Amino acid sequence: MNSTSSNASTQDEYAIHTRELNLWYGTFQALFDVNLSIKQGLITSLIGPSGCGKSTFLRSVNRINERLGYVRTDGLIKVLGRNVYDQDVELVQVRKQIGMVFQRPNPLPISIRENIIFGHKLHNEGRKARISEEDEIIEAALRKVLLWDQVKDRLNSKATELSLEEQQKLCIARLLPVKPSVLLMDEPCSALDPKGTEAVEELIWDLRGEYTILIVTHNMAQARRASEECIFMLMGKVVEHTATEDMFVTPEHKETADYIEGRYG
Ligand SMILES: Nc1ncnc2c1ncn2[C@@H]1O[C@H](COP(=O)(O)OP(=O)(O)O)[C@@H](O)[C@H]1O
Ligand SMILES: [Mg+2]
Repeated sequence: MNSTSSNASTQDEYAIHTRELNLWYGTFQALFDVNLSIKQGLITSLIGPSGCGKSTFLRSVNRINERLGYVRTDGLIKVLGRNVYDQDVELVQVRKQIGMVFQRPNPLPISIRENIIFGHKLHNEGRKARISEEDEIIEAALRKVLLWDQVKDRLNSKATELSLEEQQKLCIARLLPVKPSVLLMDEPCSALDPKGTEAVEELIWDLRGEYTILIVTHNMAQARRASEECIFMLMGKVVEHTATEDMFVTPEHKETADYIEGRYG
């Protein structure tokens, strides 16, 4: 990482740090005064009923909400100590630091090989990697997601021909060569069958410590199993952020308890 920044404040122990974050889609306010400090190197799960703003929050961290012209964001979002909305912050740098995995696997309609190396090439423009170097990068990334043995003999076939589980693993693998610090995952297992869910979840758990992971899930069992801290949101607000075990055993708020016990949709 950037070892030259010596002016680390205490806030920098947080991978993601927001203050008074508000967000509007047109006139509709979707996030209200979100103050979150998400610790580095942990897996934090983000839970809450449909429409409470989980995806919106994730998308404001890497600034993909702003592709919509009618979104207005107000407040502070720091990623690894830097305000991502600072005028001198380059979007390319933000996206390099932050990898994202979506609900539906979205590999590019090109080969497995090209999918894995795509981001790496994009972020290393002008520096041509040797083929052997690329091969090493591809193998390492695919091994990390436990996909190497299945695909090593068909690296040139289309990624879209893989099973959904394999596609989602590939979508995680292709982030790794870019060396992000933060991984945002928006219900990464929701399109998978139980077996696929288990495999991908296990994989995410294995990445713990190497990356800061913020994962949205509707699956309480998954949140409880796979995360160290947990955030509960309701109607655009953060209700509770605590150690996962505490949230599930002794939630502080009635709304949290109601949600965990399945009394919300
Ligand atoms: N692109 C958009 N344009 C307008 N409203 C949106 C958009 N995306 C989400 N919303 C609204 O913002 C609120 C939060 O949505 P979202 O972040 O997708 O919730 P969640 O991921 O928790 O289900 C919802 O009321 C939703 O209808
Ligand atoms: Mg969502």
